[in-house]
Amino acid sequence: MDRFLVQGGRPLAGEVTVACAKNAVLPVLAASLLTRETLRVPRAPALVDVRTMLDVLGSLGAETRVEEDDSVSVRNAGEPGTRADWEYVRRMRGSVCVLGPLLARTGRAEVSLPGGCVFGVRPIDVHLKGFEALGASVRIEHGYVVAEAPRGGLRGAEVFLGTPFGSSVTGTMNVMMAATLARGRTVIQGAACEPEVEDLGRCLRSMGARIEGLGSPCLEIDGEEELSGAEHEVIPDRIEAGTFVLAGVLTGSRVRVVGCRPDHLAVLIDRLWQAGCPVEHGEDWIESQPCGLGHRPRPTDVTTQPYPGFPTDLQAQWMALMTLADGVSVITERIYPDRYMHLAELARMGARVRRQGATAIVQGVESLSSAPVTASDLRASAALVLAGLVARGETDVHRVYHIDRGYQRIESRLSALGAGIRRVAE
Ligand code: EPZ
Repeated sequence: MDRFLVQGGRPLAGEVTVACAKNAVLPVLAASLLTRETLRVPRAPALVDVRTMLDVLGSLGAETRVEEDDSVSVRNAGEPGTRADWEYVRRMRGSVCVLGPLLARTGRAEVSLPGGCVFGVRPIDVHLKGFEALGASVRIEHGYVVAEAPRGGLRGAEVFLGTPFGSSVTGTMNVMMAATLARGRTVIQGAACEPEVEDLGRCLRSMGARIEGLGSPCLEIDGEEELSGAEHEVIPDRIEAGTFVLAGVLTGSRVRVVGCRPDHLAVLIDRLWQAGCPVEHGEDWIESQPCGLGHRPRPTDVTTQPYPGFPTDLQAQWMALMTLADGVSVITERIYPDRYMHLAELARMGARVRRQGATAIVQGVESLSSAPVTASDLRASAALVLAGLVARGETDVHRVYHIDRGYQRIESRLSALGAGIRRVAE
């Protein structure tokens, strides 16, 4: 397993271009199951998770092709297989996105229940509730979800997909995809409004699906007999963009993050201004302003919420910033109350953070010190790298395969900005 050695205390400078959104490209690739024709995604991010999704689709019989510039094409000309193996789903929870399109296309889907992850149980009850509303029978057998459409196929229905923690991103995606081939109209209440859901909806529309309400909590889908192929340009990754902006802010540097959607990061821009860390932005870029290394942000509380609230996927990275604030800040996780694996690792670097259930109380310190730390999940890993950029000494981040799942060659892109980071194969 590879490690990153991160030399702290170096200012950054320059521009970094954002890749396409991991959490949009995965469901878009799964949508290829809804048509016999080719679905092409130009310049897909070169991520482990994208390769895993292509492996899942390949195991179902799809022809997949990755071009020189990482553009990806998928074609399910024949009748796809109906079973997505545990081998793949355990590697990537996002594989669960094949459930809805597979059920709609073939009338049957057997997909391994996704495992939990380091930040708690990850149920899929509203996914299954949505399929049952569309007329499917759903049961759990030997660790697999087995969903079967009624004779004559799925039929449109009205269903509420909210959970005790708000809307469900992949739950909305799965049921929206299934509804595109159901007979009649489906109304999804309590739908997720994340940009990734909206982007998937736009891709489905370009495949011939009739969907209204994209970006709102109420989606209306009128089913079609079949969908056609398409070419879909996926939106920029707002979490990757936010991570790079925070790298610039943490090091007090001028870093311009280009090819992003500042409107998808309004809450981060607002919180950074509240924290006394001004960022400028234009139509497709955000730029951290040079405040010099050692600049301490004002303590600023965040609570993670469904979009457009503060994204849970930036919580760990925000905590890395608040460990250096000149006061006490409070971080509350309303999406994944246990998403605090990074606390202990940041504490090893001198951070003073106390957890009270879903809340973390961060007492800012003057500086962090380097330490050997262990990455636990994709976003916690990013937070440890960010902390390493400003810690005194060289931080040794272990198990960086987590970070490779969601950030394309992050070490070479940070090095290009002047960071002292290098990958060491273990
Ligand atoms: C998606 O996960 C993202 N993953 C996650 O990003 C992201 O953190 C999450 O949405 C929230 O924004 C992908 O898109 C592949 P949810 P998802 O269903 O869809 C509860 C990353 O780092 N819930 O929106 O699995 C659930 O426990 C990853 O890129 C139910 O109770 O999340 C959670 O508390 C991590 N029942 C909340 O809802 C369900 O049936 C939101 O979960 C489904 C979810």
